[in-house]
Order: sequence, then structure tokens, then C-alpha cells
Amino acid sequence: MGQNLARNVASKGFPIAVHNRTSAKTEEFVATYGHEGDIVGGATMADFVGALERPRAVMIMVKAGAPVDAVIEELIAHLDDGDVIIDGGNSLFTDTERRVRSLAARGLRFLGTGVSGGEEGALHGPSMMPGGSHDAYAVVAEVFTKIAAQVDGEPCCTYIGDGGAGHYTKMVHNGIEYADMQLIAEAYDLLRHGLGLGNDELHEVFSTWNAGELSSFLIEITARIFAVRDDQPPVAGVAGAPGHLIDQVLDQAAQKGTGRQTAQEALELGIPVTAITEAVFARALSALRDQRLAASTVLPGPVPGDARVGDDRQGFVDAVRDALYASKVVAYAQGFDQLRAAGAEHGWALDLGTTAAIWRGGCIIRAQFLNRIRDAYTEHPDLANLLLAPYFTELLARTQDNWRRVVSEAVRLGIPAPAFSSSLAYYDGYRRAQLPANLIQAQRDLFGAHTYERVDRPGTFHSAWE
Ligand code: 3PG
Repeated sequence: MGQNLARNVASKGFPIAVHNRTSAKTEEFVATYGHEGDIVGGATMADFVGALERPRAVMIMVKAGAPVDAVIEELIAHLDDGDVIIDGGNSLFTDTERRVRSLAARGLRFLGTGVSGGEEGALHGPSMMPGGSHDAYAVVAEVFTKIAAQVDGEPCCTYIGDGGAGHYTKMVHNGIEYADMQLIAEAYDLLRHGLGLGNDELHEVFSTWNAGELSSFLIEITARIFAVRDDQPPVAGVAGAPGHLIDQVLDQAAQKGTGRQTAQEALELGIPVTAITEAVFARALSALRDQRLAASTVLPGPVPGDARVGDDRQGFVDAVRDALYASKVVAYAQGFDQLRAAGAEHGWALDLGTTAAIWRGGCIIRAQFLNRIRDAYTEHPDLANLLLAPYFTELLARTQDNWRRVVSEAVRLGIPAPAFSSSLAYYDGYRRAQLPANLIQAQRDLFGAHTYERVDRPGTFHSAWE
């Protein structure tokens, strides 16, 4: 990703110096891509820093955690007051806050910058979420806004806020990404095992969806995945006909941590991001493959694939599409709610409309409906919840019968749909004037004298329940 970002910078006409701790890699990069622009290789850190104009801006692209601190320590011996260090990895926002403070004490400026879009995005235009020193952003703003993806003539990059605001926003972006991917996986499971669609049909369904309201990078790549044939020869003694590559991919999802961090931070804030959290747990459950294989022969229940939904096949495909869209809206509403709460907690003036705008291009969750989210928060910056914006309220009214039908069918068929069902439960809970929390308060007061409030008079009460 670092290499592609460097090539992107060079291709926009900016001079750039590059350095890798393995000098052979630096040489190879310059030999291969040096003709693409004004690119200089630095064999040592001193050579590299010496090639930069002042105030220097150095972007670090290494694994989050200790490697970032190690590179910073090595780097600062060569830097001068006012130089800028940019961390473009997925650092935890609290680490970014610490680095902003400790580097400021040493006269250096720091930008924790979320960069989304993977390898391709880095090369052709990512979505960028810089946070930290505001005057440091002024040093790199021209480069960042030129290398970022452009949508309707606007760069997918803006200064997010001070401290760890940029990395926090990228973390929530990734949390939403987890939810979005899990929802698409549940739609796939329902269509495959509830309806019996094959990969070619799945390719058609997702391609059709990508041409409509659900149009997004994740739906587009999902459609493409179902079209890919396996190019490996069959393994002797292992069952399975040659066919589609997706059927040979082991069903254990890995994770690098940003989804888990989003859920952890949401718990700290007390913000229910149920779709993101269910997506993290679904990956954790998928990783318990040995246990699942053993349990599959012991625990009773409907076997996905044995029973099917009824004869109205197109009706069910449309219902899954509606359930996916409604659940996605909930997942994004929850993520934006977390950003709103985090902004208040940490004193960041987060602009949710602009955040939605810079996610419209370059990044993994880029989607057509982010235009609607941008509009909702631009028109009503204090919107309590995205679900209350008229476009989304109407969408949920229109899709919810199908949403309920799909969740019911999933339960009946024994197909786990945790993100679909938890999103629907959140929706039903959020629109409920009266929840059963009165009983929880009564229980707490009975066993722990934790007190409760009453609906008919002000004050705090404790009762002798027994
Ligand atoms: C990334 O940062 O590479 C992805 O957006 C998320 O990675 P993960 O799914 O491995 O956690």
C-alpha cells in the first residue's frame, strides 16, 4: 500500500523520496517505478530525510502498534522543529493521541491519517481521514487532496479533527465495513441455502443489485467473486468437482482488529452498534471451525439446505435485497451514531455530512447511498439518528415487511443471520416508546437496592419488594 501511495503521489507531479528498512526493496522500487515521476530512493534513513524539502513531511506506512513507534524513534533523530510525521496505518486512536502529544513536546507535528481503499485505492485514489495537528495538515493538504479519490469534483479527503479524530473515524469506517461484509455474507447464505442458487445465479443477482440502490464497491466485488473459476487442479483423494473458486475458500474469517476496536469503543461510549459487534462475533464464531464441525453432527435443528423457501423465487430474492438494504442502513446509522458520541466525548467537531461525503469514493465502503447520508447530515447536522431522516424513514417503511419475512425464514430454516436479525431488533427497540427495562430496574432494586425512577413523579426510589 505504501508503494502504491508513493506512485500515486509521483503521478500527480509531486517530487517524492522513498525508503524501506531493506535497502534492496528501495532500489527495486525505484528501478521499477522511478520513471513514473520525480522519485528518489534513500538507502538509509539519513539519506532519505536528507532528500526532503523543509518543512519535511514523512508518511509512515507500517503495521500498527510497536512498529510505528520504532520507526518514529529512528526518524526523529534526523528531523527538525516543525517537520511533520504522518502515520497512514490503522493505528489505535489512543496511540495517535499519545504520539501527537509526545511529538509536539519534541517540536514535531503529527497527523494520524486513516487511509482506506486497499492497494488499488492507494494507487488510483483512496479515501483519506487525516487528524492531529491542524497546521500540519496545511503542509500536506495539496498533496492529500490531489492523490485522494475525487467524486463530483470533490476530493475524498478532509481534515477530520485534532488528536486521534482521523484514526477514530477510520476505525469506525472499518467497523461499518465489517457489518456490511457480514450482511452481504448472510444474504449469500440465504440465497444459496434457502433458495438453492448456484454461483452463476448469485453472480447475476449481485450484479443486478449493484445496478440499483445497493450499488457499492462491496456488492460489485461480491458479484465478481461468484464468477471466478478455480484454476487449481483437483487434489488427489479430496472430494469436490472443479468449479468456482469461492467453494474452495475455507469458511474461517480472519481479522486484524479494527472491527473489534470499534465495538470496544462503542461499549465504552454506551452506543449500541449491534450490527458491527455481531459482525465481529460472526467472524469469531467462523474461526471455531473444529468445534463447529463436531457440533454439526450432535446439535439438533434444521439443516440449512434441506428445506427451501417457497416457490416465489424472485419474491425471495427481492426480499433478501430489501432486508440487506434495511440492515445496512441500520449498520451505517449505528456507526454514525458512534462518531457523533465520540466527537462529544473527545471534543472533536466531527462533521458527519463531510465524513459521509469523503467515504463516497476510494474506500471499501463506498456506496451510492452515502450521498443520501451526506444529504441527511448536511441538512440536519444535529440529527439524533440517521433512521429519523425522511429518506431513511421512508426506506425502512417500504422494506420492513420483506426484512421481517427474511429474518423469520432464516430462523425457520436454521440459517444464522445475526446481523440481519440484530439490526431489525435494534430498529424495533429504537422505535419503541416503552421497553421492558422497568423490570430490569425493579430486579436491580430488589437484589441490590440500586434504586429506580418512577414514571409518575420525580425522584429516586427504593422499595421493599419482598
Ligand atoms: C484493512 O484495513 O486492511 C481492512 O480494511 C480490514 O482488515 P481486516 O478485515 O483484516 O480486519
